[in-house]
Amino acid sequence: MTDPADRIAAHLDGREPRVLLTLGSGLGGLADEVADPVVMPFADVGLPDTTVPGHAGRLLAGTLRGVPVLCQQGRVHLYEGRDVAEVVAVVEAAAALGVHTFVPTNAAGGIASGTPADPDPGDLMLITDHLNLTGRNPLIGQTAPHFLDMSSAYDPELRAAAHGAADEVGETLREGVYAGLVGPSFETPAEIAYLRTIGAHAVGMSTVCEVIAARAAGLRVAGFSLLTNVHQPGGTPTDHEEVIDVGGQAGPRLARILGALVPRLAES
Ligand code: 6GU
Repeated sequence: MTDPADRIAAHLDGREPRVLLTLGSGLGGLADEVADPVVMPFADVGLPDTTVPGHAGRLLAGTLRGVPVLCQQGRVHLYEGRDVAEVVAVVEAAAALGVHTFVPTNAAGGIASGTPADPDPGDLMLITDHLNLTGRNPLIGQTAPHFLDMSSAYDPELRAAAHGAADEVGETLREGVYAGLVGPSFETPAEIAYLRTIGAHAVGMSTVCEVIAARAAGLRVAGFSLLTNVHQPGGTPTDHEEVIDVGGQAGPRLARILGALVPRLAES
């Protein structure tokens, strides 16, 4: 089968995407702002398709605020039974097509510790670092780069640009560490207590493997979590409906930040 990058390239018609945006749950709406789009369902370009309701499963190429972008609406997850190579296939294709910056977004659970600085549902978090707790790594079995530096995987300059973009649209971004787990069950109270202890501020089921693949390909990364629900100390039930609901309400706020960020990515 032909490589996804070649199949995507065959649809681009002169477009030269430079930024890959991965839109998680509740964030698909930003894709409506992509001008002059070519729409590529994953299956049409040799990419594995997602089975998760609320995830569209397509790639758009066009311009966002004048910047040529690839926009991934929906993603495949390890919990769908996909292997890590399938999870990172879009990132690798984007890198092969000349994309220099990766902007992953996700819906995540916030982890409160009983202090005034705790997050509220609907808060937006700029990812400063991650904990890869999936037990997978896209570099396993690859010859290079095996020992990839991950010390500033979430680019400090782009983080500054993200705060600038948030200010521009009157939003506030928290900062924190994202823990990526396989899922698909939500965490037990003991697991949340463990995650709190090891320094996680948010927990989700995506992003970490894609970011490793992006760094291996030399892409700069700016990642965002939309905190759809918050785990209090002592245990909080998690409801998928609530995750979808809050995601849908807060999604447009993150979309506005991303809209203001994208032109800054070309400059930084
Ligand atoms: Cl609480 N946990 C995980 N693993 N993923 C989530 C979430 C929680 N909330 C949204 N996505």
